[in-house]
Amino acid sequence: MHPRLTALRPARSRKEWDRLHAIRRSEIFDRYHPPATEWWVRYDPDHPDDRDPRHRALVQLLDGEVVGTCRVDALPGDRAALRLVAVDPRWRGQGLGAELVEAAEEVALGLGAEQLCLNAQPSVTEFYARLGFAPRAWAGSSRCRRSVPMAKPLRLGLAGGVPVAWVSASAGLSPKVA
Ligand SMILES: CC(C)(COP(=O)(O)OP(=O)(O)OC[C@H]1O[C@@H](n2cnc3c(N)ncnc32)[C@H](O)[C@@H]1OP(=O)(O)O)[C@@H](O)C(=O)NCCC(=O)NCCS
Repeated sequence: MHPRLTALRPARSRKEWDRLHAIRRSEIFDRYHPPATEWWVRYDPDHPDDRDPRHRALVQLLDGEVVGTCRVDALPGDRAALRLVAVDPRWRGQGLGAELVEAAEEVALGLGAEQLCLNAQPSVTEFYARLGFAPRAWAGSSRCRRSVPMAKPLRLGLAGGVPVAWVSASAGLSPKVA
């Protein structure tokens, strides 16, 4: 086992964008918004929200490999939204999801946010609750009646001073065998 380097930063290359889209598509849209159901949402890899300068489409890297993704959107009123959180199934259950959310909080702080908001699928509310999020309606939360709006106050005093890239060492991670 050797320490491994993880980072959460904006997607930079075509290859990283392709991985970001593939993870979102299979782990969020196919799972929660499949065709032929009332929840269907077509995934759009060219969605303008990904190019909005107030938004950060991020990849989580483990030793340079994309293993997770999320987006942090600056919102009006010192808030940010955490969206499209997903970890590749081969890498789940090893703390990477929690690490991704904690790194996203630093990104939100860097964007000047004092509160981080999200829309949780019912099956992951407990995951977010463990990380300090509580059910709370927020302006602009999803109109989807299945999702649970949640929010978390971020620690104060770092706004503007935190870089977008966030790096840490994680020991002993290994992919699951399919
Ligand atoms: C949710 C997700 C990101 C968690 O990733 P992960 O790498 O498995 O999470 P971690 O290993 O960091 O888990 C952190 C803690 O949350 C717990 N946890 C993880 N998923 C959970 C779930 N669905 N419900 C309850 N607890 C959960 C873990 O047991 C762990 O607890 P511990 O600290 O006591 O050991 C991942 O399961 C995923 O990508 N799911 C599909 C996409 C999705 O649902 N995204 C959220 C949409 S709102």
